[in-house]
Amino acid sequence: MAISLSNFLLPSILLLATGLLSEAATVTYDFDVSWVHANPDGAFVRPVIGINGQWPIPTITATKGDRVIVNVKNSLGNETTSLHFHGLFQNGTTHMDGPASVTQCGIPPGSSFTYDFMVEQPGTYWYHSHTRGQYPDGLRGPLIIHDPDSPYKDQYDEEIILTFEDWYHDMMNNLLAKFISLSNPTGAEPVPQSALWNSTQNISIPVQPGKTYMFRMVNMAAFSAPYVWFEGHTMRVVEVDGIYTEPAEANMLYMTAAQRYSVLITMNNDTDSNFAFVASMDQDLFDQVPEGLNPNVTGWLVYDDKKELPAPAFVDEFDPFDDYTLVPQDGMSLLDEVDYSITFDMKMDNLGDGANYAFFNDITYVRPKVPTLYTALTTGSSATNPAVYGVNTNSFVLNKNDVVEIILNNDDPGKHPFHLHGHEFQVAFRSDEEAGAYVNNVTMPQVPMRRDTVLVRPNGNIVLRFRANNPGIWLFHCHIEWHVASGLVATMVEAPLDLQQNLKVPEDHYQACHDGNIPIEGNAAGNTVDLLDLTGANVSPDPLPAGFTTKGIVALVFSCLSALLGVAVIAWYGAAPIGKAQKGSS
Ligand code: C2O
Repeated sequence: MAISLSNFLLPSILLLATGLLSEAATVTYDFDVSWVHANPDGAFVRPVIGINGQWPIPTITATKGDRVIVNVKNSLGNETTSLHFHGLFQNGTTHMDGPASVTQCGIPPGSSFTYDFMVEQPGTYWYHSHTRGQYPDGLRGPLIIHDPDSPYKDQYDEEIILTFEDWYHDMMNNLLAKFISLSNPTGAEPVPQSALWNSTQNISIPVQPGKTYMFRMVNMAAFSAPYVWFEGHTMRVVEVDGIYTEPAEANMLYMTAAQRYSVLITMNNDTDSNFAFVASMDQDLFDQVPEGLNPNVTGWLVYDDKKELPAPAFVDEFDPFDDYTLVPQDGMSLLDEVDYSITFDMKMDNLGDGANYAFFNDITYVRPKVPTLYTALTTGSSATNPAVYGVNTNSFVLNKNDVVEIILNNDDPGKHPFHLHGHEFQVAFRSDEEAGAYVNNVTMPQVPMRRDTVLVRPNGNIVLRFRANNPGIWLFHCHIEWHVASGLVATMVEAPLDLQQNLKVPEDHYQACHDGNIPIEGNAAGNTVDLLDLTGANVSPDPLPAGFTTKGIVALVFSCLSALLGVAVIAWYGAAPIGKAQKGSS
């Protein structure tokens, strides 16, 4: 009797064990990061950052519960790098989050570095370089976490990944040097030359009548936010930034840089024609729209490849779906008891070098000498004092499990997509444009939309809430890459003493610092003795001398420019053959 029972039990235990084992897989990627060449808009060949000699770079794919290992070798030769897995919480692994000078040292040329983390969140994400201004040079790709338990898994037949990118013909290093300089006192952002779907243009997606597809859309742009629509089809939004939503119908979406939308689209029942889908860059973001810019990129749902691909119809109004109306499928209600509220007044202004910078509460971000995480790990009980992280990191220390609120007042006429690392936040409030600073008597949704990147409107405000249940160092920043470079960044230091107890940073992370000659101990200035002495810390340029205004700089630059132009014209006349000059003047 006993024998027959164990004969029955043993195989089922084994089966159960293998079942569990096969569920949690380890997914490993070996990435050799190097320069290659590409011409994605057909207009201009340029160097781009590829992986294993290829560009576009691969999609990282895993299943909820998997362990992901990414072995990075930096073969760029001339630039440091790092990878950020945008939207992943990195719970327990803040040192794998990726921003250089924050949770690691930039990986110097020739060095290697391993990212190793668990993924518990299903959904649509992306990964990108998080080293100064680098990802628009091509180091950006989708990251998809599949979900065997998705509430929508029975509602679609196939998945299609659709990435949007804006494309510059010039390299980021050149563009950044011009952007943050005395010759650009108004801080006009470089405008891209073109828009791309899936890193190219004019893509065809073969579809079958009657089938439903889930399009996982990712905006991997440096700057641009497209309006997106599919002619002749309706979208049903079911996920934003990794959060399942109650299905919501939309005819047109607005996707800010770094946002993701999963939409279900059911195909028509006949193959009579093919349909265009379009991303059209919001030109409000551009200070000056260059002549001849095509803000659109088109693709086609191809029912019948023998039929024509129709040009998209003219759209007379952009009237996108409002993501603030979305309701998370889990029904999580508003965090209404706030323990800690932070107000950010953001603005753009000039500093004493004449260049234009971006500020939270009059502080523009400058990266510290010691990565912020390493300061948190090596300053003992002083790690709870924001001062040790340096003024220009704009650091806030959060207590574990507090409900944290960020009130952001946009004192700028531009639209800005704000992103928080390590969390998704509730959008407790979002004002219309021109609403000014937040006033504390608004009605908040009972079940607010949650996501990890949200738009604040021109001269408007947003209120974000989250629970500080994820010890780590998490950046909060505008996801327009130009504004990261000009300092629109703050640092959340979440439960640093908890990190000191629980975090083990692997040796190859410190080796990258060693290779790059970067200190790994002490306060932001690298002082290990007097933790409150920040002498030698990286700081922003001095403010403008009193009485000097942006207008003054603009006037100065333009008078210099026109003086130079004057000289150039005289030189040109001087150099012209006499006969021609005479002809011109007679
Ligand atoms: Cu897409 Cu700081 O991140």
